[in-house]
Amino acid sequence: MAKTSVLSLQFIKTVICLLSLSSFPPSLSLDVETQALLDFKSQLKDPLNVLESWKESESPCEFSGITCDPLSGKVTAISFDNQSLSGVISPSISALESLMSLWLPSNAISGKLPDGVINCSKLRVLNLTGNTMVGVMPDLSSLRNLEILDLSENYFSGRFPSWTGNLSGLLALGLGVNEYHVGEIPESIGNLKNLTWLFLANSHLTGEIPESIFELENLQTLDISRNKISGQFPKSISKLRKLTKIELFSNNLTGEIPPELANLTLLQEFDVSSNQLYGKLPEGIGSLKSLTIFQGHQNNFSGEIPAGFGEMHHLNGFSIYQNNFSGEFPTNFGRFSPLNSIDISENQFSGSFPRFLCESKQLQYLLALGNRFSGVLPDSYAGCKTLWRFRVNKNQLTGKIPEGVWAMPLASIIDFSDNDFTGEVSPQIRLSISLNQLILQNNRFSGQLPSELGKLMNLEKLYLNNNNFSGVIPSDIGSLQQLSSLHLEENSLTGSIPSELGDCARVVDLNIASNSLSGRIPITITLMSSLNSLNLSRNKLNGLIPEGLEKLKLSSIDLSENQLSGRVPSVLLTMGGDRAFIGNKELCVDENSKTIINSGIKVCLGRQDQERKFGDKLVLFSIIACVLVFVLTGMLLLSYRNFKHGQAQMKNDLEGKKEGDPKWKISSFHQLDIDADELCDLEEDNLIGCGGTGKVYRLDLKKNRGAVAVKQLWKGDGLKFLEAEMEILGKIRHRNILKLYASLLKGESSFLVFEYMPNELVTGKRPIDEAYGEGKDIAYWVLSHLNDRENILKVLDEEVASESAQEEMIKVLKIGVLCTTKLPNLRPTMREVVKMLVDADSCAYREMAEFASSSLLQTKECLGQCLIMSHWHNWTGTRAGSSPLGTAGFLNSAFWRDSMVGSIGVLAVWGFSTSTPMTTESASVMGQLDGRGSRSPFTTQKVGVAKVEEKEFCNLNFPHK
Ligand SMILES: *[C@@H]1O[C@H](CO)[C@@H](O)[C@H](O)[C@H]1NC(C)=O
Ligand SMILES: *[C@@H]1O[C@H](CO)[C@@H](O)[C@H](O)[C@H]1NC(C)=O
Ligand SMILES: *[C@@H]1O[C@H](CO)[C@@H](O)[C@H](O)[C@H]1NC(C)=O
Ligand SMILES: *[C@@H]1O[C@H](CO)[C@@H](O)[C@H](O)[C@H]1NC(C)=O
Repeated sequence: MAKTSVLSLQFIKTVICLLSLSSFPPSLSLDVETQALLDFKSQLKDPLNVLESWKESESPCEFSGITCDPLSGKVTAISFDNQSLSGVISPSISALESLMSLWLPSNAISGKLPDGVINCSKLRVLNLTGNTMVGVMPDLSSLRNLEILDLSENYFSGRFPSWTGNLSGLLALGLGVNEYHVGEIPESIGNLKNLTWLFLANSHLTGEIPESIFELENLQTLDISRNKISGQFPKSISKLRKLTKIELFSNNLTGEIPPELANLTLLQEFDVSSNQLYGKLPEGIGSLKSLTIFQGHQNNFSGEIPAGFGEMHHLNGFSIYQNNFSGEFPTNFGRFSPLNSIDISENQFSGSFPRFLCESKQLQYLLALGNRFSGVLPDSYAGCKTLWRFRVNKNQLTGKIPEGVWAMPLASIIDFSDNDFTGEVSPQIRLSISLNQLILQNNRFSGQLPSELGKLMNLEKLYLNNNNFSGVIPSDIGSLQQLSSLHLEENSLTGSIPSELGDCARVVDLNIASNSLSGRIPITITLMSSLNSLNLSRNKLNGLIPEGLEKLKLSSIDLSENQLSGRVPSVLLTMGGDRAFIGNKELCVDENSKTIINSGIKVCLGRQDQERKFGDKLVLFSIIACVLVFVLTGMLLLSYRNFKHGQAQMKNDLEGKKEGDPKWKISSFHQLDIDADELCDLEEDNLIGCGGTGKVYRLDLKKNRGAVAVKQLWKGDGLKFLEAEMEILGKIRHRNILKLYASLLKGESSFLVFEYMPNELVTGKRPIDEAYGEGKDIAYWVLSHLNDRENILKVLDEEVASESAQEEMIKVLKIGVLCTTKLPNLRPTMREVVKMLVDADSCAYREMAEFASSSLLQTKECLGQCLIMSHWHNWTGTRAGSSPLGTAGFLNSAFWRDSMVGSIGVLAVWGFSTSTPMTTESASVMGQLDGRGSRSPFTTQKVGVAKVEEKEFCNLNFPHK
């Protein structure tokens, strides 16, 4: 048997060989095809050398990726899937008359689809999805043999191709994710009676779905998601009995889900999220036995969830957050299903918490926040070790957390806040090694804080506030090197503040107020160099305010209602105001402090106090002396300079200002020994930006005192803005706002001195640049470049925008722009962003595989990760950050918006990642998200995967909140 087949194979080969020898002496047709292919090759860039075998000497049938007809020797198929090919498709392919399949998906091919392709009249398969092709698609309706036409995910423009309605032999039609003009779905698509797959997502489609579509009775996948389709949810959809997948999410559909939907018994995936649907889900949906995914979030559904969901056997994703569902949740939900992800947040479910969600031990996302669940958290969750995210906050849950629930080795977020839980935090918490956020605030938890908390090396946020915790703060907390927010306020903690807390170098936000802590404020607190907000109020702390506290870049401080004594450093007083110190009987402030007029704080008794101070703080005196000398020197220098260079020099520096008043008027808001004289050294080389109200320079202070940013306000309006800006900045003390150190006035010249944030900008654009136009910022500029591809490419950082990266860069950029919409409520939610990113992603998995090799990352993370890793880093060059720029009241200016553009990718990653460790960078990224705007997160490539709540992303608290 085997022998015979070998023999016959041999025979066939021989015949073919003979045939080809006899029928193709160097024949013309062969030459034409070879030549056509070599032309084809010549127009492509081929970084992976997949076209290496394409050489003149070879027969084209030997070329890689080429299939020939064995009899005629003619090329029938060209096939390169995801091979990093870029360049354009040569019109020479029109010479390939026998071509039946052109299969080039997931490359980076650009340019137009040559009209000549219609000469390939035998073409049955044309798949160019996932490239970057542009222009208007040629009318292919003469290609009557076409069965598979997939031109989706490109940048084709012009009108939506209605000629596709003539290709009646089509089985699969993909046109989605292109840049067509706004238009409607052509009625004629209903002619494609053999169609099984229809993909029209994200194509700027409006109007209603034509009834004709519901005559396509072979249809299995119907995807019209991410358009602006309006009208009622189509009842006739139930005529499409073979449907397995319905994707209608992100449209403008209204009305109710018809009961007939239950007739679609093969349905596996159903996504109608982000529409305007309402009413109850028909009972019958519960009988759709094949359902794996049900997504209905962000609609207006109400009523109960059909009990049948509890009987399903394949359901793995269920998301209905932000609706109006109510009643008890089906008891058996998840009992027989391999549930992986469930989000029922922000509804009005009541009654006991469902028990079986993790029954199949595959649950990774359990989000049930913002409901009215009551009773205890079922014991069953103690065994749910697969969870990545566990959030049941804002419910009415009571009782103790089952012991095992504290041990969640993969969980990055445990959020039980805003319930009525009692009991202790188990020492088992040490097993939750991936934990990034432990959020227990606003409950009635009690007992000691377990020292095992110190084992959570990835912990960034620890919110234990407003509970009944007692005992001491475990010194082990000092081991939490990633910690950025520590909230222990409103408990009954006693003992002293452990000095080890100072080891938490990344803490930005420390609040231990309203406990019964005693002893001194540990001096180590002054080592917390990232600290921005410090609240130790309402305790029983005594002793002096530690020296050096004023050196931290605090934006907010509250030490009130303690038993502190001694002098309040004037810097702290300026910064925190007297309210921050009241209620400490033994504290005093200097006589010359202007802020104390109404305060209850006493004035330091000159000598007595000074003596004490002297005894205590000789060093401080030396510093003051130094500063004095410094300032004096500065003034001397200044006068010398004035004398020397005279008016002319000043004219240059200050744009022709008359020296009416040679004295500088300096208002200082933060401790900074700025020497007015140095302002004369502003050099055009150090110009870092140009805003609506002035130019901003970097100024390196002498004697290695670091750098500040100095904004020189334009003449005329300058003063007005100065006042406005100072008024805002003087009042606002927010950790996310750049610090205004000082303002300096001289005559009509005005300067603002800000905290300088270094710019690691690799290349590219500034947030504000004259090139963008008067008063326009980079967000505007980018936006105005999104209209066509040529322009988009201008936005991308040339140094990075390799052709292979372009596509993703563009997609991410567009998402970024969405997130910079002026009004926060018009910005997409985190979830939407994640979804968009997932949709946008086509990145090479190998790239992320490398990065993710050591981590627990899974596909979803990788998608975002990859975007970040490969592209964001360099991306538009519009990276946040460059400088403290902006027009008056930069609170809502281009500044943070720019930072958002840059941050978006990172944010996205954060949104859905859960498991990799945090890095240094993430904290600063966080700062950026908050609108701080300028710290480049990417000092290294090791971007941590941080965790931001889904819904918070684009609506992050900007400073103007
Ligand atoms: C549709 O499919 C059927 C069955 O495969 C086939 O006979 C028919 O020719 C197809 N229709 C067209 C227009 O190609
Ligand atoms: C086109 O190719 C891509 C990538 O291989 C594939 O996922 C897609 O299903 C193909 N399109 C059609 C309609 O077969
Ligand atoms: C969505 O539909 C509503 C009516 O159902 C209409 O008022 C609204 O303008 C539509 N929005 C868009 C963006 O089409
Ligand atoms: C389709 O659904 C409707 C409403 O649920 C039902 O009355 C009808 O019998 C179903 N038709 C078929 C063929 O199952």
